[in-house]
Amino acid sequence: MQKLTGKVAVITGGNSGIGLATAQQFIEQGASVVITGRDQRTLDQAVNALGENAYAVKSDATDLKAINALAENIKAQFGHIDILVANAGSGIFMPLTDVTEADFEQQFDLNVKGVFFTVQALVPLINRGGSVILTGSAVHEKGVATGSLYFATKAAIRSLTRTLASELAVNNIRVNTLSPGIVRTNFASNTNLDNDDFEGFISMVESQAPLGRSGTTTEIAKAAVFLASDDASYMTAADLLVDGGWMSV
Ligand SMILES: NC(=O)c1ccc[n+]([C@@H]2O[C@H](COP(=O)([O-])OP(=O)(O)OC[C@H]3O[C@@H](n4cnc5c(N)ncnc54)[C@H](OP(=O)(O)O)[C@@H]3O)[C@@H](O)[C@H]2O)c1
Repeated sequence: MQKLTGKVAVITGGNSGIGLATAQQFIEQGASVVITGRDQRTLDQAVNALGENAYAVKSDATDLKAINALAENIKAQFGHIDILVANAGSGIFMPLTDVTEADFEQQFDLNVKGVFFTVQALVPLINRGGSVILTGSAVHEKGVATGSLYFATKAAIRSLTRTLASELAVNNIRVNTLSPGIVRTNFASNTNLDNDDFEGFISMVESQAPLGRSGTTTEIAKAAVFLASDDASYMTAADLLVDGGWMSV
């Protein structure tokens, strides 16, 4: 039986990686999905691959005007939504002494401000019984040299989840963080890391996680299906770690 029949979902950063796999899984489970991103070419490719229940809206998650236009667009097309996955994000990694104000603003603008105002703009459209999923990261529980900016943004997401879960419970909307461990995606291309750096980080995590490997985008997406569906009807304010056990040992 499909778990998301007739539901409407919005996934920011849905043209790549974890967001794209989540869109695939949601559609397989019977949902219609609006994906966002900044790159029209990959948005078009993703919609072609996802099929008739996929829609794309080009929208920069750091731009409040674009976020509000996204909400207007979705309201006009669908009226209401059931699921919001605030997933668009990136990472900058460098020693504390190298971080500039621009780096700081870039990271917090996308990973925190973008998530905050995306939820604010779309919450009025979310039906009672809806689910908000904020893509965090297992690293919010960690401290690894060069991760100060990125890890702090993901810790902020964990905090935001707790408060929004309390605030939106009155509307019967659940809010949870989904925290992946390490997953091979295009993440490195949106960071200051080159592929060798990213592979080095992946190797470190794989050597520490009990399952001894990276996750796949599909494994993260299936956890998103769980949080989005009635299977998780008694879960809110939670942090679902999907990290091969990395944080728990
Ligand atoms: N990969 C991992 O190991 C890992 C682990 C833990 C958490 N995460 C989190 O998972 C989420 C997805 O990352 P991913 O690994 O799937 O990386 P990815 O393949 O690089 O996907 C990032 C997505 O975010 C979108 N995006 C970036 N900047 C944007 C902006 N300003 N406005 C709108 N969309 C924007 C990108 O689309 P455009 O380029 O078209 O804008 C893309 O769709 C992120 O929040 C990341 O922090 C990843």
